[in-house]
Amino acid sequence: MQDKPQKTVLIVGCGDIGRRVAALLPASRFDVTGIVRSDASRERLASTGVKAVCLDLDRRESGADWECQSADIFYFAPPPPVGQQDLRMRAFLDTLRGAMSVRRIVYISTSAVYGDCQGAWITEAQPLNPATPRGHRRRDAEQQLLAWSQAQATQWLILRVPGIYGPGKLPLERLRKGTPVLCEEDTPYTNRIHADDLAAICVAAMHSPIFNTLYNVSDGHPGNMTDYFFRVADAAGLPRPPVVNREEAQAVLSPGMLSFLQDSRRMDNSKLLRELGIELQYPDLAAGLAACFQEDI
Ligand SMILES: NC(=O)c1ccc[n+]([C@@H]2O[C@H](COP(=O)([O-])OP(=O)(O)OC[C@H]3O[C@@H](n4cnc5c(N)ncnc54)[C@H](OP(=O)(O)O)[C@@H]3O)[C@@H](O)[C@H]2O)c1
Repeated sequence: MQDKPQKTVLIVGCGDIGRRVAALLPASRFDVTGIVRSDASRERLASTGVKAVCLDLDRRESGADWECQSADIFYFAPPPPVGQQDLRMRAFLDTLRGAMSVRRIVYISTSAVYGDCQGAWITEAQPLNPATPRGHRRRDAEQQLLAWSQAQATQWLILRVPGIYGPGKLPLERLRKGTPVLCEEDTPYTNRIHADDLAAICVAAMHSPIFNTLYNVSDGHPGNMTDYFFRVADAAGLPRPPVVNREEAQAVLSPGMLSFLQDSRRMDNSKLLRELGIELQYPDLAAGLAACFQEDI
């Protein structure tokens, strides 16, 4: 009996989630190449057995050392840190144009595209209203991807992802430093997903019979950032961080953290679970944290 031909898969921005996705794709069926920016990341990725190449999407002249005629693409590179547009996405789509045929692109976007929803439960029908430059860049990336995919007749799936946690992704350093958190009464709703569940969702999205659509990704149990830091501290046996009010927070929290505290929403994940047939391994923070501390610390 002849073996099924291998499928070529490119993971653009093959960092933490990319490595988890690659681990879910058996080498007998998938020929996976991971694209990273730096030599250090290339070496790290190669040491896991994934073909790794460098391409810096911020330097348009840099060409990647890969060749294939057709591929399935996971696009996980974040947008640049400033501006209202995702120029990395633009550079990548330009690189692809005419170079190969792409069956499907699965893109990790963020829930920041929705902006502040004042704590409401939101489905994918919620209008986009990004409040932060981070959210604007992600909306721009989504729009670019849609326009490109329609023009190239390529299938697309967009995953709107909230805070990712998991082994190696916990705020232990921040807790050790004793960086303050906002008092719980002032803290907006946030949503989360365990990194391993996200990787499984990405793979399901790549192989789903349903495409050209988008999903809210979340474990379905919104919480708040302060409670999250407290629970991680408790699980790690570290002191809970000091608490500040909104006014004090402006002086002591980083601009990045303050931007995360601007938006409040609760993400409805029912379309994700129903259409992709997902059964979450870690349906809430208690299950996910327990697993992190078994494996990691
Ligand atoms: N952390 C969260 O809570 C959260 C929430 C929602 C969405 N997301 C998004 O989810 C995605 C996957 O997350 P992750 O944890 O896997 O991120 P990660 O570990 O930081 O990986 C990001 C990857 O993108 C590559 N990259 C960055 N800039 C690049 C450039 N200019 N050209 C080419 N490659 C570049 C990095 O390469 P180097 O290592 O060489 O720099 C790295 O391989 C990211 O887009 C992230 O922003 C994260």
